[in-house]
Amino acid sequence: MLITKRDPLKGEIKIPSDKSITHRAIILGSLGDGSVEVRNYLAGADCLSTIACMEKLGVTIERAEKSLLIHGAGLHGLKAPTEILDAGNSGTTLRLLMGLTAAQPFKTTFTGDDSLKKRPLKRVIDPLSQMGATFSNSNLPLTVNGSKLRGITYRTAIASAQVKSSILLAGLFADAPTTIIIPPCRDHTELMLKACGVRLDGLTIYPATKLQMPSVIEIPNDISSAAFWIVLATLLDGSELVLKNIGLNETRTGLVDALIKMGAAIEIRNERRDLGERVGDLLIKSARLRGIEIGGEEIPRLIDEIPILAVAAAFAEGTTIIRDVGELRVKESDRLAAIVTEFNKLSPGAFKAEGDTLIIAGGKPKQFAACKTYGDHRIAMALAIMGAAAEGVELDDSNCVNISYPNFYGALLQ
Ligand code: S3P
Repeated sequence: MLITKRDPLKGEIKIPSDKSITHRAIILGSLGDGSVEVRNYLAGADCLSTIACMEKLGVTIERAEKSLLIHGAGLHGLKAPTEILDAGNSGTTLRLLMGLTAAQPFKTTFTGDDSLKKRPLKRVIDPLSQMGATFSNSNLPLTVNGSKLRGITYRTAIASAQVKSSILLAGLFADAPTTIIIPPCRDHTELMLKACGVRLDGLTIYPATKLQMPSVIEIPNDISSAAFWIVLATLLDGSELVLKNIGLNETRTGLVDALIKMGAAIEIRNERRDLGERVGDLLIKSARLRGIEIGGEEIPRLIDEIPILAVAAAFAEGTTIIRDVGELRVKESDRLAAIVTEFNKLSPGAFKAEGDTLIIAGGKPKQFAACKTYGDHRIAMALAIMGAAAEGVELDDSNCVNISYPNFYGALLQ
């Protein structure tokens, strides 16, 4: 795929639906008593993996172009699968469903693609084992031996919403409340569980007898996909872009905050709440950026946006320092290595990793290069934006964007 320099972005770009919230709507909708219509769901490959897994657990899901009709099996209505569940590239599908199936009275075997086979699962196996489930091994393919679970208190230093959500799903079925002590990270699971009538006090979940699903769940558009256009509109002189119905959950808007700190012109309009989630429109005008330093609790709020934030930083004046980004090594690819190896091909000497810190020297010359995506959707899109903002880029495996943003290149090349 060849990307060349883009004209300024004007008018509106339609952003795909939120991947994290779509996964949760499919999983919780499958456990509800009645039917739920999930409007504006993301039909990206990761969410299709979750749909296929829930179907193998006996749930009926009708698919239309823009909505899903999920016929909930009830909290205790899942069926023992007769086939292996394939989570594809999706860590969210795998880790959340490991929590769910840990509590079922049957065995479930999971597999996934080569990237997912390398990702750490001990972080969910540990708490789920303490609750009483057992696992055939600690990498894919693996079998979850579901069991009657105990409520526990679990403390982890990893700010992972997948870990938190996996334990919450298991906790729904436990014999006593379960408490999770975890650094702040995205809270979509908690918000949706509350919208289904589940009792949650902070991060203590009380076992439920049923899920009272709303009849309709409307998924907002994905801030993590909007991120690419927010940065490109900021970088291309003369841009004025509107992005509508974006999910602006405070646990996800770290990129907007960081860019504003760097000098970006981003305005939020029509702010509202839907099932506890903050939603609004964004207006972005081009602006000159300067380097910043961030780290600690700011990182989970923009964990998936670090590749595109690094691109923005390469165009800023001065140096940007992003600390505490060790988790990037265990994403869909080793994103820290991908940034240093591939992004430097487009701006030689700009990107450096020192331990868990990413350092970006802004303002270095940009050039055209052929780059590798490592099959990682967010690396592919960040590289494409860097090329579109400067001298172009050629990507090897470009189809990986289908994971979260099936029409990404259509929007970029139009
Ligand atoms: C996600 C949580 C994050 C994020 C991923 C989606 C989720 O992963 O990077 O893209 O939907 O819960 P971690 O839980 O590994 O931080």
